[in-house]
Amino acid sequence: MGRRLTIAIDGPAGSGKSTVARQVAAMLGYLYLDSGAMYRAVALKALERGTGLDKHAELESLTRETHIELKAPTAEQEAAGLKNRVFLDGREVTEAIRTAEVAQAASQLATIAGVREVLVAEQQRAGQGGGVVMEGRDIGTVVFPNAELKIFLEASPEVRAQRRWKEHQEKGDHLTLIEVLQEVRERDKRDRERKVSPLVRAKDAVLVDNTAMGIEETARLIVFLANERAAS
Ligand code: CDP
Ligand code: CDP
Repeated sequence: MGRRLTIAIDGPAGSGKSTVARQVAAMLGYLYLDSGAMYRAVALKALERGTGLDKHAELESLTRETHIELKAPTAEQEAAGLKNRVFLDGREVTEAIRTAEVAQAASQLATIAGVREVLVAEQQRAGQGGGVVMEGRDIGTVVFPNAELKIFLEASPEVRAQRRWKEHQEKGDHLTLIEVLQEVRERDKRDRERKVSPLVRAKDAVLVDNTAMGIEETARLIVFLANERAAS
């Protein structure tokens, strides 16, 4: 067995980061960490408390006093498609953070430098030591700029919205495909254009477009690249 790498997977909403990263981690026996879940958890807390998303100083303090834990799902939960269990100040919010409303709030919160600073430090702590697959928007550029393998996962906006829409349908959320496409486009635009840590491909990231690729095929490609890096 080679070295235990740090693998960073970044990309826009619905490109397959969580699903693929989880599978790559399982194939390599690595830890899987979903950084977006942390932004979503703080966003949920802010929404519940009624803290305005324009109150930057308040949101930064709120983030500092928040405890987020990411845990591996049980075998049963995993079989049901769950990737990371998320606990917000000790309360499970795994399902609660997966709404379109929380996604939008998370992307607004993610524009605040002070909030990012706190969460990035936690992500660095959680992933220290390697043997980890972390996914998000700034993992290869800011959180782990020295990651041995960086992937920028892409797919067309239409396919990404279609994938997300299907998930909402399965949960019984009756959003139209157009509404989901709009939500995804709006969030991508904000993520790509923000001043702090925008969504951008790191120069040394491998671009993987999985518009026409399945989950398994995409994960196998990344594992192949990881094995190559680990051996070199
Ligand atoms: O984490 P991210 O928003 O990038 O995407 P995801 O939650 O992993 O994937 C969104 C949906 O697309 C999930 O339901 C995946 O099962 C599905 N997917 C797919 O059908 N084909 C792929 N190649 C990748 C993901
Ligand atoms: O699953 P999906 O790709 O839709 O979103 P997510 O990964 O759960 O992230 C939700 C939001 O958090 C994103 O739209 C970003 O604004 C923000 N985020 C970020 O700024 N940096 C990260 N490393 C991860 C997420």
